[in-house]
Amino acid sequence: MNNDYTHALDYHEKTKHSQISILYSRHYLDWENRPNPFKVYVDLKSILLPDSFPVPSMNAVKAIAAVNNNNINNKEGDIKFLDKDTSIDDSNYADINRIKSFRLTDLASILFFTCGITRHIKFNSTDYYMRAASATGALYPIEAYVVNGDINKNDLDAGVYHFNPGSFSLTAIRKGDYRKVLASYSANNSTTMHSPVSLVFTSNSWRNAWKYQSRSYRHWFWDCGVILANLLAVCKSFGLQTKLLMGFIDDEVNKLLGLEYHEEAAIIVASLYASSYLKGGVTNSKSTMGNGCEPTNEHGNEKSDGNIIQQVDNLKPKVYPLSLSKVFYPDIWKAYDTSKLQNSSQVVNWISKTNFIIDSSSKSNNSNNKKRVLKKYPIETNFTDLEIPTIGKVILKRGSSRRFSRGAVSLKTLCNILTSSMGVEGKANLPMDYNLGQLGLVDLYFIANNIDGLQKGGYYFNATENTLDFLSDIPYADFSGHLCLDQPLFADASAVIFLMVELKKILRVLGNRGYRVVQMESGIIAGKLYLLSYTFGIGASGSTFYDDEVTDFFSYHDGPKSTMIAIGIGTSPYQSKSGTVLPLRLTNEQMCGESKTL
Ligand SMILES: Cc1cc2nc3c(=O)[nH]c(=O)nc-3n(C[C@H](O)[C@H](O)[C@H](O)COP(=O)(O)O)c2cc1C
Repeated sequence: MNNDYTHALDYHEKTKHSQISILYSRHYLDWENRPNPFKVYVDLKSILLPDSFPVPSMNAVKAIAAVNNNNINNKEGDIKFLDKDTSIDDSNYADINRIKSFRLTDLASILFFTCGITRHIKFNSTDYYMRAASATGALYPIEAYVVNGDINKNDLDAGVYHFNPGSFSLTAIRKGDYRKVLASYSANNSTTMHSPVSLVFTSNSWRNAWKYQSRSYRHWFWDCGVILANLLAVCKSFGLQTKLLMGFIDDEVNKLLGLEYHEEAAIIVASLYASSYLKGGVTNSKSTMGNGCEPTNEHGNEKSDGNIIQQVDNLKPKVYPLSLSKVFYPDIWKAYDTSKLQNSSQVVNWISKTNFIIDSSSKSNNSNNKKRVLKKYPIETNFTDLEIPTIGKVILKRGSSRRFSRGAVSLKTLCNILTSSMGVEGKANLPMDYNLGQLGLVDLYFIANNIDGLQKGGYYFNATENTLDFLSDIPYADFSGHLCLDQPLFADASAVIFLMVELKKILRVLGNRGYRVVQMESGIIAGKLYLLSYTFGIGASGSTFYDDEVTDFFSYHDGPKSTMIAIGIGTSPYQSKSGTVLPLRLTNEQMCGESKTL
């Protein structure tokens, strides 16, 4: 099923925004039926997480950047990072002792700075709890689960837990060590097997579909991706590395977490580790395990290519309803179901299939492989003497800009943001389970409205040649706002960045699951762009877009590419207040409101 990628293409086509689709949409928001942003179990007990925990204090650029900054800036000579706070993180980086000394306070910090509540806002007598990472429509469809071994003896028993950001607590779903079980669903991934903690992120579909209908399947990955950008940076600050797994047996992971069929689904597993302690990767036989890891062989009842799936009991934990009623969107679940992996051999095949090299010329859409560019501007990255805040401060400061002032952003700031969001040669260098060789999946294009030193127009961020390639003028002044569904916010942005991919080429290799991959990678890069904008003192907001109009505008360069996400960056006319380390202790009534009584 996964190989027939026409399903992903159909979904993408069907859920495109156009002026016509917006004009004829009869969808309205039923506020009475707005889904509750918290998942609360009726009968299961919760354990409060400590409300005092370390704040990640690594220099934000170091924490966010895809590669070591010394590599990015090797033409710049000395780089002086001015940390305000004293950071102990560097000395801990990738240290074996780090993983052994992992405590519940570390987990609390990681969860808080990844998907905790950083702001409480009251608007029209309704409470809104804004979180560390952005979320389309502030609907927060992504749930986080923890699969861990015993943490620091008595800190936290091994188990499977659900993280509730409202009460800043963990709810035990299963007791015992399920790390091997989880690993067995990813072809015995050795990182997951031995990691002290894996986080599994799911999407609670109705929460976002309430507003965005079928298109919200894309948002599963956008909203998860921005969370992962925080996670990668926070873990790096704590001297931990993260392995991100998108190859797993979907139904088994969903069953382990006790998820409702066609309501909530696991989309990524993030296993935390220290590099000198573990080597990640797919292992499907004893000889390739390394590090003395044994293949799982207990309680297995399904064999496939040497992998044994560990079965768990079915759980049906009762949860409070999200809203009075729900609407089922078949296109979402068709896109999801047709991209599922059913058994270990499919997982192994999917991951190894991606292990291929594609050179940049064959990646080009242009038949003559010649990209069309009108002018090249050299990239100016320069971090010298910049006062870079810590990653903890940046996460607290981040919030989506609600207004931009049309002010100028310096070319240096734009270049610093772009180069730090991507790795060398435009590869995102994300720690995924699949390996795409030379292929960087996501290309960054942008419209410059007011960048000092750049003429207005459409550009390609050419990380290979270290240039910003001017492609064309814009047809009229507020064009970037028009492309972003005619939202004035994005006409006022100093630049709007569009994340674009060659969808068909990727799906041909990765199948329908490749659609999850491109949306997820785009979400992570968008999250990095958000954080980097705040790092360099400007604002940012994600945006939706008229798909084909964006494609058409930039296709002059390298043929048509599919638009994944847009993000506006710019100067702000107001000083936004920073969020705070705010581990709330909301009650069930506060979290569930009236639905608790249903
Ligand atoms: C991928 C993505 C797309 C978004 N699209 C829009 C948009 O089209 N218009 C808008 O005003 N805000 C957009 N947002 C911003 C969200 O509405 C915002 O993140 C949410 O209200 C939470 O607020 P916060 O980011 O300040 O925490 C988007 C955010 C993301 C992550």
